[in-house]
Amino acid sequence: MIRINENFLKLQTSYLFSNIANKINEYQKANPESAIIKLGIGDATRALPPACVAAFHRAVDEMAEDDTFRGYGPEQGYPFLREKIAAEDFQARGADIAADEIFISDGAKCDTGNFQEILAGNISVALPDPVYPVYLDTNVMAGRTGSMKNGRYENIHYMECTPENGFIPDLPPESVDLIYLCFPNNPTGAMISKPELSRWVDFARENKSLILYDAAYEAFISDDTLPHSIYEIEGAREIAVEFRSFSKTAGFTGTRCAFTVVPKECMAYDSAGNAHSLHMLWHRRHSTKFNGVSYPVQRAAEAVYSPEGKQQVKAIIDFYMKNAGHIRREIHDLDYEYMGGTHSPYIWINTKSDSWEFFDMLLNKAGVVCTPGLGFGTCGQQFIRLSAFNSYENVETAMKRIHQIVRS
Ligand code: MLT
Repeated sequence: MIRINENFLKLQTSYLFSNIANKINEYQKANPESAIIKLGIGDATRALPPACVAAFHRAVDEMAEDDTFRGYGPEQGYPFLREKIAAEDFQARGADIAADEIFISDGAKCDTGNFQEILAGNISVALPDPVYPVYLDTNVMAGRTGSMKNGRYENIHYMECTPENGFIPDLPPESVDLIYLCFPNNPTGAMISKPELSRWVDFARENKSLILYDAAYEAFISDDTLPHSIYEIEGAREIAVEFRSFSKTAGFTGTRCAFTVVPKECMAYDSAGNAHSLHMLWHRRHSTKFNGVSYPVQRAAEAVYSPEGKQQVKAIIDFYMKNAGHIRREIHDLDYEYMGGTHSPYIWINTKSDSWEFFDMLLNKAGVVCTPGLGFGTCGQQFIRLSAFNSYENVETAMKRIHQIVRS
């Protein structure tokens, strides 16, 4: 008899953003005239940078001729892209990362979800609350948790991120094997300083833990004293894996291109305590289960690092951050406490009411979609997240509508 992985039965019935999409569809069916404005999922709305589009076209043309056609590429990505990333994203910031430590993939969501697969089933896991649900759900699927009780899974160390700690998690009181960190943070928009991040690196080195560091939103950091990469911190090469993405940086949410950095010194241990290279294991996993990102997409991503590409990407980020600034000002006028929108496209707002009820009210009365904080964890119970990914006009209209219903 074929049997299922019963860990899947412990999950919430549907993924947060699918659940929200269903609610939007139902509302739209019932109110076909309503012009909904979506400030929910962080999905790019601006077109790809022209430099990327031109590179994409050129690469497609190469695929149209036998002489320049490419079949399977290297599973880890083409050297032209890995070398640019190593030089521009890391070495230029004093982070010692080599091209062959970079694995090109089709998304940070997939990589943050898949990476735990090469780790033991019985390790202890610490993750923030609120948290990007993929980190938690994939550990549930892998059987590292018990059941959910009062909104939390057994056997997970939840690191509460609240206004009291500035939404920066405190170090766990005892050793933990696997730690998820995300900065700039999704969903809170909080950002960590170098001294704070150093404490995490030291903790992981002392405890032989591994930090999975999600830096998908690093392009939104607006203060150069803040760390764009965990590898700007001394010793991080031994204990951290970093995830990056072109999705939010250059509008690749539909095009798909991202990368994961696994330094060669980064180790994990077998049951006898012998060290093994995570680089080697991830390389093995990646070459077995993944066949690479398509050549035209990698050429388009490479163009992000051209002089025009850099300018165009900066213009896109500035555009979204102007939206974020507008949302922040309006929320401030409404006297809500909030976080984010300075180094991140997300604004995390304390509504002092139930987050799903607030979500329903915004959708039904204002035709505006947000993300209810409870979907990211129990600490999000009273919060909603607004995303700056939309046109300025839509953001203005959405904020006017929110103003009206909150003030009425
Ligand atoms: C979000 O809205 O949190 C993100 O867009 C989700 C994702 O990147 O998968």
